[in-house]
Amino acid sequence: MNVDVLLGLQWGDEGKGKVVDYLAEQYDVVARFQGGPNAGHTLILNNGVKFVLHTIPSGIFLENCLNLVGNGVVIDPITFRMEINKLEGAGVSVYNRLVISRKAHLILPTHKMLDAASEASKGADKIGSTLKGIGPAYMDKTGRNGLRVGDIESPDFKEKYNKLKEKHFQLLKNYGDVPTEVPNEQEWMEAIDFLKKITFVDAEYLINDNIKSGKRILAEGAQGSMLDVDHGTYPFVTSSNTITAGVCTGLGVAPQKIKEVIGISKAYCTRVGSGPFPTELFDETGEELRKIGNEFGATTGRPRRCGWIDLPALKYTIMINGVTQIAITKIDVLNTFAEIKACVGYKINGVVTDQMPYDIVDAKIEPVYETFKGWECNLDHCKTKADLPQELINYLQFLEWELKTKISMLSAGPERDKLIIL
Ligand code: GDP
Ligand code: IMO
Ligand code: MG
Repeated sequence: MNVDVLLGLQWGDEGKGKVVDYLAEQYDVVARFQGGPNAGHTLILNNGVKFVLHTIPSGIFLENCLNLVGNGVVIDPITFRMEINKLEGAGVSVYNRLVISRKAHLILPTHKMLDAASEASKGADKIGSTLKGIGPAYMDKTGRNGLRVGDIESPDFKEKYNKLKEKHFQLLKNYGDVPTEVPNEQEWMEAIDFLKKITFVDAEYLINDNIKSGKRILAEGAQGSMLDVDHGTYPFVTSSNTITAGVCTGLGVAPQKIKEVIGISKAYCTRVGSGPFPTELFDETGEELRKIGNEFGATTGRPRRCGWIDLPALKYTIMINGVTQIAITKIDVLNTFAEIKACVGYKINGVVTDQMPYDIVDAKIEPVYETFKGWECNLDHCKTKADLPQELINYLQFLEWELKTKISMLSAGPERDKLIIL
């Protein structure tokens, strides 16, 4: 069989966890291919219990689903242990459903110190990082200094760790810090020991064997395409490839094995952290979206910046990902709005375009909007397309026409059953 991909088309937090949770039953394997504990994927189970997953794939609640943390992921053993203990405490049997690639990189406590020091040094230009050590861990990966999960099995792991820690101490000195010790080093070492309880795998063989034997595989993206290190709003991005291409490098899957690419977009738009956001609203409407949508970060608790849906950005991310179908989430958040807007173009220096400018960080962008009449009703009764109010159908048809991609799912609430298949 092939690999299907599910990923965010905006700046993260599109509701990926919720949709993966719904879809996971249709798959034998769910695999994370990039990112790390900067992610926070919220799932609300049938019993109403809420879980936020950071590194563990969202298929973990299903007995017969194998969950793979791929080589493209960076793992903080402390967060990982906490996540596993929470799941086990809730009766979710993790150990027989979870495997980790030996090639996944480790986040050291000193990576977090470096993340904090780097952000502090940037002052007003800070990225707004989640401070989970993501950037420094990926820098060590590409700088060919990193420690990998497979190194834990090596007899000289401790020496390798100390060598890298020393390197980090030198770097910290450049930021004016003179560290002599690492605050949670002991806890980290204990978490490394704990990690040995999980099966380490040569994941590229495992995933390709699964493909060969006809297993159904879903690759679960973290962050969003506009945070991609190459194609996002650089430098206000994360440090991994969050797009479909990341599945090939982050799991060891060949491009022709990828079939469906399910792109997730909110019915509006949010961003947490710094960086350009052309449709951001600073008025009461933005405040209303934040309040009704409960737009506060699942990982850091920070308020999310809110604005109208941005079609030039979506057209761009659909293009670079090869999106074959879209799931629109949080449609219920717009239930009370008399008017709904969609940005159809960017006016830059008097010229309207629907393409993303290279200098998006500095460009003065004036969004061009089309306005739609809202449906102004609750959607709780809607189970199929036939139940949807006409204004909402009109709006979805407009989006499909603009984006030239079918909308296959509509999420109308955080719960598992609030998903309408179109
Ligand atoms: P992810 O990172 O893409 O998995 O998204 P997050 O979990 O960080 O943020 C999405 C938030 O929206 C979570 O609190 C979800 O429970 C919630 N959510 C997901 N889908 C819907 C929806 O259709 N309607 C509403 N109101 N909330 C939703
Ligand atoms: P999920 O998977 C939203 C943002 C941070 C910051 C930038 C860089 O839940 O959608 P980093 O910690 O990666 O160095 O931060 O990226 N960011 C996210 N925003 N959702 C996420 O993940 C994010 N992961 C990172 O806020 O602006
Ligand atoms: Mg999130």
